[in-house]
Order: sequence, then C-alpha cells, then structure tokens
Amino acid sequence: MKRRIFSGIQPTGKLHIGNYLGAIKNWIDLQDDYDCIWGIVDFHSMTVPYDHEGMSSRVLDCAATYLAAGLDPEKCELMIQSRVKEHTELTWILNTVTPISWLERVPTYKDKSKRFSDNVNMGLMDYPVLMAADIILYKAEAVPVGEDQLPHLELTREIVRRFNSTFGDTFPEPKEIVSEGALVRGLDGQAKMSKSLNNCIYIDETPEDIWKKLSTAVTDPQRVRKTDPGDPKVCNIFSLHQLFSSKEDIGYCEHGCKTAGIGCIECKKILAENIAKELAPIREKKTELLHNVDYIKDVLNSGIKYSKKIASKTIEEVYQKIGTTYPFLK
Ligand code: TYM
Repeated sequence: MKRRIFSGIQPTGKLHIGNYLGAIKNWIDLQDDYDCIWGIVDFHSMTVPYDHEGMSSRVLDCAATYLAAGLDPEKCELMIQSRVKEHTELTWILNTVTPISWLERVPTYKDKSKRFSDNVNMGLMDYPVLMAADIILYKAEAVPVGEDQLPHLELTREIVRRFNSTFGDTFPEPKEIVSEGALVRGLDGQAKMSKSLNNCIYIDETPEDIWKKLSTAVTDPQRVRKTDPGDPKVCNIFSLHQLFSSKEDIGYCEHGCKTAGIGCIECKKILAENIAKELAPIREKKTELLHNVDYIKDVLNSGIKYSKKIASKTIEEVYQKIGTTYPFLK
C-alpha cells in the first residue's frame, strides 16, 4: 500500500510561481509514489477579507492550474475542502485540545493580525487547527509544502501528540517534504512571493507580461552600473535562474555577473525566456481545460468522493475515542 500525503493551496487568487515551485512541482514528482490528495482549501481563504462572489471562479481556476501543471487524476485525487464536511468537524474536536497560547505564537497569525488589524477574526487564529484537521483527517504521513508552512506543520504535530496522549494513539505525526524552491522571493527581491503583496509572476502569465515584470525586478542592489561586477548570491534574479534555467545558462549568468561581462538586462532576458518556456505549455493547457469545465467537475467530484470515504472512517474512529458514539441511540 502506498503511503498517504496531503497538501493544499488557498484559492485567494491566481496561483504564482512560488506556489508552483514550492508546492505543485513537488506534488507532480510525488504522485507516482504516494497516495496523494491535493486540496483546494477554500475555507482557509475566508480568514482574511475576500471577494465571495469570485470564490467559485477562483476555485475553478485553481483546479485548472493543478491539472494543467501536470497533476494527473489517474495518479492522485483533487478535492475541495468545504465539500468534505469532516474537515470542520474535526477542527472543532482538535480545538478542544489546542491551547490558545499555541495559536497566538504562530508567525502567520502575528503577521496577518497586523496586516488585517480591523478583521482579526477567530478563523484567522484557528487557521492552523483547520490545517491540522486537513492533514490528519486522512492520516497523511507527510505534507509537501514550502518553507513558510513549517510552523503550521510543527503545530500539527503538537496537536497530534496532545490528541493521542489524551485519547489514545489515533493519528500519525506528519512530516514535511520541502521542495527545492521552498522559499521563492517576490519581484521586490525581499519578501516571500505572495498574492497579497503584489510581487508575483503568475503561472499563466504571458511571455510579454513575464518580461514586463522581470524588467523592473530588483537585482543585486550594490550593482548600479553594467560595468560594476555583481554578486549572484544576493540577487533574486539569480535565485530564479537556479529554479528555471539550464546549467549552461546559470553558469553563463553567474560568471557574466561576477565579471561584469553581462548586464542585468541580459541576465533577466535569459531568465524571462526560460520561465516563459516552462510556463507556456501550462498556460495553453489551462485555457483548453477551462473550455471543458465538465471534465474538471468530474475530476473534483471523484476526488471529493474518495476523500469523503476516508474522512468518514476517521471521524467514526475519533467519535469512538472521544466518547461521542452513544450506543444507547442505536
Ligand atoms: P498557500 O495557499 O499560502 O500556499 C500554497 C503552497 O505554496 C507554497 N508557497 C510558496 N513556496 C515557496 N515560495 C513562495 N513564495 C510560496 N508561496 C506559497 C506554500 O508553502 C504552500 O505549500 N496553509 C496553507 C494551505 C493549507 C495546507 C493545508 C497546506 C491549508 N491546509 C494542509 C498543506 C496541508 C497555505 O496558506 O498555503
């Protein structure tokens, strides 16, 4: 039997190359060897202000991107979190073993409660518990994610330990699987690439738009003139080369930058071409898929059915453990 893994992305907008390199690309590599469930975690995306009218099209866009990037429904399951009600049911139960102090120290909570200070809702604080429920509902043994999710996974393990020690061994402690592109910085060269920071290259961006965005992206700040040698180690464009370019192009740009043999514009042009080359087939496939919504619907319905089967079994076991089966009702 294959070991099970779970991961998910919030449908807060179009997916970007951080999501692609930090998550989806890794998921594609793992789909042959594991029993994989990939979620579109819509309930998570409600914890900050969001456009409710656009939710349906964002979820559809996310599913189309998953498929276009290469997730194969013959090998893995795609599902929507809100369609498997056991996610929220298990969240409630896990809430009762999760001290509030654990949630207050979560970095994303601290960050988002500052950024969205007029909407610090219970969901924002409870977000990591819902994420723990997403994972352990399927008894997933591992979770492929980018680096920003590691504190959430640590908390998941703490919740698992607390649950198991209170009610008896039920859940495995999930491990992380971190990809090569575990932390992609945005075009500002500083912060993590993130939809909410407007510093992204989206997966379905056209070659023209990729170039437009890269042409103004931040490079080594010390390199002012083309004749100044640069330091690839501090340049975000060079980090992106390492994720998208061939060994030859990486070597050429590294040497050219260090010796002032090439300027940032040439280096960016090479990168733009390489990114466009990798993303073009995904963009084309996505457009094609969005013309066949029935296919996407079938894939999701089948993934939801698969997920529900596992989820209801886990919840039944949890009910046994926590004492809420009530034999007198039978
Ligand atoms: P989300 O939607 O912010 O991101 C989805 C995935 O993309 C990765 N990622 C990045 N990786 C590298 N560089 C970046 N700039 C970058 N931006 C995003 C994230 O690490 C993540 O793997 N809490 C999760 C969603 C979630 C989840 C789960 C994940 C809910 N339930 C259960 C795993 C398992 C989140 O906000 O991801």
